[in-house]
Order: sequence, then C-alpha cells, then structure tokens
Amino acid sequence: REKSKNVLQLISETLDRDLIILLRTIGEVAEDIGFKAYAVGGFVRDLLQKQKNLDLDIVVEGDGIIFAKQLVKTLGGRVRTHDRFKTANITLANGFKIDVATARLEYYEYPAALPTVELSSIKLDLYRRDFTINAMALQLNPALFGTLIDFFSCQNDLKDKLIKVLHNLSFVEDPSRILRAVRFEKRMDFKIARHTERLIHGAVKMDLFGKTNNPRIFTELKQIFEEENPILAIRRLADLELFQFLWPDLLPNLKIDRRFLHIIRQAQQAISWFHLLYLDEPIEPWRVYLLAIMARSRPRQIETFCERFQIHDHICRELIIQKLTADEIGNKLYGRIPEKNSEINQMLKNLTNEGLLYLMAIARKKEIKKTVSLYVTSLRNVQSLLNGDDLKKLGYIPGEQFKKMFSDITDARLDGLVKSREDEKQFILKHFPR
Ligand code: CTP
Repeated sequence: REKSKNVLQLISETLDRDLIILLRTIGEVAEDIGFKAYAVGGFVRDLLQKQKNLDLDIVVEGDGIIFAKQLVKTLGGRVRTHDRFKTANITLANGFKIDVATARLEYYEYPAALPTVELSSIKLDLYRRDFTINAMALQLNPALFGTLIDFFSCQNDLKDKLIKVLHNLSFVEDPSRILRAVRFEKRMDFKIARHTERLIHGAVKMDLFGKTNNPRIFTELKQIFEEENPILAIRRLADLELFQFLWPDLLPNLKIDRRFLHIIRQAQQAISWFHLLYLDEPIEPWRVYLLAIMARSRPRQIETFCERFQIHDHICRELIIQKLTADEIGNKLYGRIPEKNSEINQMLKNLTNEGLLYLMAIARKKEIKKTVSLYVTSLRNVQSLLNGDDLKKLGYIPGEQFKKMFSDITDARLDGLVKSREDEKQFILKHFPR
C-alpha cells in the first residue's frame, strides 16, 4: 500500500523560494488541464536528504507533451518534444531545465520493437526505475501539494543508506544501472544491498555487460568520472569484476596493481589542483581518468573502447594524440628536466588541459609534476609586452615574420633575457634586420 506523508515543511526549509513557486505552478498548470504532475527521481531523493538537486524531473499522469507546452505558455521558455516517447525538455527563460515524462508502461526501447506508449499510472513508472531511493514522487497538484508518494518503502532504504533495485530484472533491462549503483554508493556513502549485489554478480556471470555496447554505459562511466572523488567507485568497479568488460585489454590480471592505483590517485590530485586554481576554466575530468586507467594500453585498444561505446571519432583521435604526446613527454622528462623555461614551454604547448593533467598522473618523479605545474600556472601565460603596432613603429612590415618575432620575444622573456619593453625592442632590433 502506498505510504504518503506531507513534506511541505521540508520543502520550505530546503528549497529556494523561486523553486517552490515553480513547483506550485507546475501543479496548477497540470490541474487546469486535468492531469496530475509529480516531481520524481533524484530531485525527491536529494530533497529528503535536505540537499538541493538542480535537475527537475517531472512525470505527468496524462500527456506529458500537452502539459509541457501548456507550462511553457504560462512561464515562457522553450520546449523540445519527443512524440514517440511522450517526453519533453523545457528550458525556462532563466536557463532552468525541466525534463517532462509521461507515466507509461514501457520505459525502455527494446531492440526488437519500439515501446508501445501507453498512458498509465505513476506507480508503474516508479516501479520501472533503477533503485528504491530514486523511486519516490512528490505530488504537485494544489490540493495534495507536497505529498510524498512512496509505494516501495523507499524512505526506509534511504534511511538505511541502501541501494536496492525494485525488481530482479532491473539490470537485465538496463545493465548501465550497475554503474549507477556504484556511483550512488560511493557518492552518498551508501551500500549496495545484499540481494542487489547478488544480482550484479549474476549479471557479470551472464555476461550481460559484455554483450552490450549501449552508449548509456559510457554515459554512466563518464558520470562516475565527473564525481568529486571517483577512486573508490573505480576500485568498486574492479572488485565487482566489471573491468573485464570495460577494459578487456587489462586482462589477464587486470593490472589493478600499485602502479595503477598510484596513477588514478595522481589523476584525482591533479584534477582537484586544477579545479582549485582555475574555477572558471572548464575541463573534462573523464578524459583524464579514462587515459589514466588506460595508461598502459595501446592506441588500438583505446580505439576499440571508443568504437564499442560509440564515442565520436574526433574525440577518440584527440584522446589518442594527447596520450601519445604526454607519454612521450613523460619519458623525456623522466630522463631530464629542461633548464630553460622556453624549452619546457615548447615541449608542453601542444597538450590540452586534460593532456597536461594526464601527464601529471603518470609522472614518475615529483620534478615532473612540478615542471607541468610551473607551465600551467605561469609559463603558458607569458606573452610579449610589445604588440603589432610597436613592431610596425620599429619599421617592420607585418607578415609571417611577426609570428616568429613574438615567439622569440616570448622565449626570451621566459628565459629571463628580456624584462622590459625597452629590452624587447633592443632584442628585436638585434635579431631581426629591417
Ligand atoms: N533512471 C532509471 N534508470 C536509469 C537512469 C535513470 O531508472 N538507467 C531514473 C531514476 O529514477 C533517476 C531518474 O531516472 O532518478 C533521473 O536520472 P538521472 O538524472 O540520471 O539521475 P539522478 O537520480 O537525478 O541522479 P544525479 O543526482 O546523478 O543527477
């Protein structure tokens, strides 16, 4: 039987005023057209833990598309609809995103046939979700606003910090949920429940994971790598014997040895370090972790990984180029750290931020990390004080030569040979005939 209670108090304590108004509006719009609307999934889970979640998933009993269009009429913003699945993505004028789905029988697209989209109840929708902690709904229609709907004693699992599937076929329906289980377990410091863990072992034995090339798997893997500290999750994946499907080339012993863990740890440190330094410079940590895990793999094996999970060719090529470049530099730096800053600059300038962080991860000496850090924090930002106009005033004619001049001045600055504008002028006049 459905257990429901009202969590209005929790809502007003946890959520911002604007969000509460939005939730109420959603309920009113649904009510007006005779539908029921619910907030579901991670949003409700996080609310019950007094945490904000910036993704709002709405399920509608009725027609999600009609509802989404009506909501946008009321609030403004844009809507993209997917007729086949009766879902819609709304972006409000202020950029806030809302995903709308229709409560329905079929959740998944089976290879054989498309799902027959049938309008159905919220209960079935929740039952088809990944884990109990994600299977609660919050009623939004005015009369029942703030009523928490919990058919499967999800609140207990949340209290007990358990990741539990709702039914035995959950991983068969969607093997990527195995990765989600690990991600939630490590992110929230929960525990995968015994029976659920047994189902994961069963899925591994049945090679469920090995047979799929579903891009969802990679999406979930990426999500793991975007967590603040994915190391525990990566180890858990290894312990659950999932590495054999994800990175078969690491067989036979999977190489989860000290060197492997050291590289992953250094990757994590490098990424945190970078985030602290450059809050507004976006990086893609997943690339660093993927390369770190595959540090001892060959390009062909990275290609195989990319093909299997349908990662774009250009991304795949970029990963391989960064890895090969960083590996080579890593070896060179292991032999000798250049004395001249200009030489360091020259060496590292073709690496992306992710490539640089990967290089820090595989570094076998402290000095290598220090060199990369020096490059990131200062060397790469060094520029000449003179600009094109200055060069023209000195009597030079703009053209290819200017590039070389700037790069030579930069090198001279890096190596401390010039300090002021005057130094730079003298430097140019000495080295470039007019
Ligand atoms: N879901 C599912 N099976 C999946 C993916 C998602 O059942 N393979 C359901 C879950 O109920 C989940 C919801 O869809 O709560 C939204 O998915 P997503 O946004 O990926 O996850 P969140 O739970 O919101 O987690 P996060 O905090 O990481 O965004």
